Amino acid sequence: MTNTAKRLNANKWHDLYPDLGTKPIPIEPYVSRAHFEKERDLLFRKLWLNVGRVEQVPNVGDYFVKTIEMCRTSIIVVRGKDGDLRAFHNMCSHRGNQLAYQANGNTSRFTCKFHGWTYGLDGALRGITDEHNFFTLDKRCLGMTPVAIDIWEGFIFINVDPAPAQTLNEFLGDELRASVAGYPFSTVSENCISWQTELKANWKIVKDAFQEIYHISVLHHKTIGTVFASKGNPYGNALDYTLFPPHGRSSLSANPNRKPTPVEALAQHYGAVVLQQDNAVTDDFPKGVNPTRYANWSFDGVAIFPNTLMYLSKGTYLTHIFWPLAEDRTLWEVRNYSPKAKTLAARFSQEYGKVTFRDTLLEDGSTLERTQSMLGSGAKQEFVLQDEEIFIRLHHKMTEAYFEAHRPGA
Ligand code: FES
Repeated sequence: MTNTAKRLNANKWHDLYPDLGTKPIPIEPYVSRAHFEKERDLLFRKLWLNVGRVEQVPNVGDYFVKTIEMCRTSIIVVRGKDGDLRAFHNMCSHRGNQLAYQANGNTSRFTCKFHGWTYGLDGALRGITDEHNFFTLDKRCLGMTPVAIDIWEGFIFINVDPAPAQTLNEFLGDELRASVAGYPFSTVSENCISWQTELKANWKIVKDAFQEIYHISVLHHKTIGTVFASKGNPYGNALDYTLFPPHGRSSLSANPNRKPTPVEALAQHYGAVVLQQDNAVTDDFPKGVNPTRYANWSFDGVAIFPNTLMYLSKGTYLTHIFWPLAEDRTLWEVRNYSPKAKTLAARFSQEYGKVTFRDTLLEDGSTLERTQSMLGSGAKQEFVLQDEEIFIRLHHKMTEAYFEAHRPGA
């Protein structure tokens, strides 16, 4: 029985997940430095984190650098001569200088700009300048420090724990992986448009805004509100929520009665547009995406704990990654993927989707810093959540569970 069918016999989505409870959640995790440090040590330094896609490093020697302040490190992801991807801390074994200064590039080796030590693409130490002036050195022990890396559906994940408790597949789980199996990530990922910005808000304030639909008909009433909300579904309530703790998937409907503007209709005619409303799928579409096979489907939201959200639609998808910088600062990365445009009309379509989505993101951004600015007042101690905010509650509960699992004596 699908979750949607089960829901027919239940009053709320929460009824399907009684362990989550329905009580308000505390504000303290959104303002507390101590909580932030626990998130650093028990989530970000322990769990698999999505840092990019394989299309960023297609050739031998291609690399990119990902600074993860929450893990207090910079990571190099590089494709080796054997074609494999590897990840290393971006740190020289001599006196610790960063080896790669550029955000990305192609190289045959990494040479430290301080004293000139060189490393191969496999991380092995290859050369030491003025080597005879050192004392006893074992070059085999002085390579770049490796970081665990694995790939899922073309997404590159790293784990800075020297001995991760789970493999990436175990962490994602069979159900989540099955839910998107068959989605054409490799072709839809040919073209990437990205934005990033730093916000004065806790990373969960930013993430929470993108993992609930409740706000759409109000905050976005001038732009995309009517893409989802309709007369029969005025708040755009979701078609389905399925939790695969610590992860989850939502599925959203579109408003069948919305009349697009003439320009919007043209954009939708010539290509896939983010947040478009005409997304009926055929039988060969992956079964886990639009799981209810609703004719007026919009997109599925996939929440990968702790800090990644994906919106999967027909012919285009996007990702949000929320990188904590401090208890009240976040680096927010958004990437929109689509196939290479083969015609000018398709290119126009992508550009239209890009600016529409940008304007929507700006509306979202308008509330986040304002919200954070009030949390420290102490005027309220809790957030009151409704049924459509179930992913926020899931995140909160999963964090509690990870903290509990690492409690001394647990
Ligand atoms: Fe890299 Fe000295 S710090 S060679």
